[in-house]
Amino acid sequence: MNPNRKSIIAGNWKMYKTTADAVALVGALKNEVAGITKSEIVVCPPFTALAAVAGALAGSNIQLGAQNVHWEKEGAFTGEIAPAMLKDLCVRYAIVGHSERRQFFGETDAGVNKRAKAALANGLRPIVCVGEMLAEREAGKTEAVVTGQVRGSLAGFDKNQILETVIAYEPVWAIGTGKTASPAQAQEVHALIRRLLGELFGADVAGKVRIQYGGSVKADNAKELLGQSDIDGALVGGASLKAGDFAAIVKATV
Ligand code: PGA
Repeated sequence: MNPNRKSIIAGNWKMYKTTADAVALVGALKNEVAGITKSEIVVCPPFTALAAVAGALAGSNIQLGAQNVHWEKEGAFTGEIAPAMLKDLCVRYAIVGHSERRQFFGETDAGVNKRAKAALANGLRPIVCVGEMLAEREAGKTEAVVTGQVRGSLAGFDKNQILETVIAYEPVWAIGTGKTASPAQAQEVHALIRRLLGELFGADVAGKVRIQYGGSVKADNAKELLGQSDIDGALVGGASLKAGDFAAIVKATV
């Protein structure tokens, strides 16, 4: 963490929680993190629970995020959700390009780029996910893969757009596996991403962009990961589904 950047801890609930379960979870979470303002706290429930969670979060220090967003304003795109529909529900952040979307639903950097730009054009902040697969890391391709994803996902961004964007580095082999990148491994890639942002947008802007780490972040490894100079927060899957576990990660930043 760096004091010039406000840390951001986001919970990605994936395809978990009915509406009633979602409302119960944020009810408990609100109490656990009440009064914390040093970090931004975000929860990203499934689309079906956004409206109810928005109501439950009103007036709290927890912000709402979605797990994806389409680039068109409206139209014949079965199964997709438009940016304005999310704005309508008080959503502030939208995850784009999560590795599960890339792996199982064929999303590409070009599509991620369109989703991120549409989010920004509608006042949503994209959380743009990048990260290498295990075989890519083992083949020494981490730098090339991550560089390509960052360049492709952020193609055509201007300085204002990148400053409203959060990047999440999530090595695919660490997601849901219980295997975390070591703090040094994570820091190495975060520093690489920040250097690349420096080339693209200038060092001053790059120094302000927040880069989250994601992949089996838990209460007991959060502090060490978040202690790295270029790690500005966490994108948390499994451990965001229990209020106490997620709150413990939030507290690792304060
Ligand atoms: P995990 O998921 O914390 O369960 O590894 C992280 C993510 O997919 O964002």
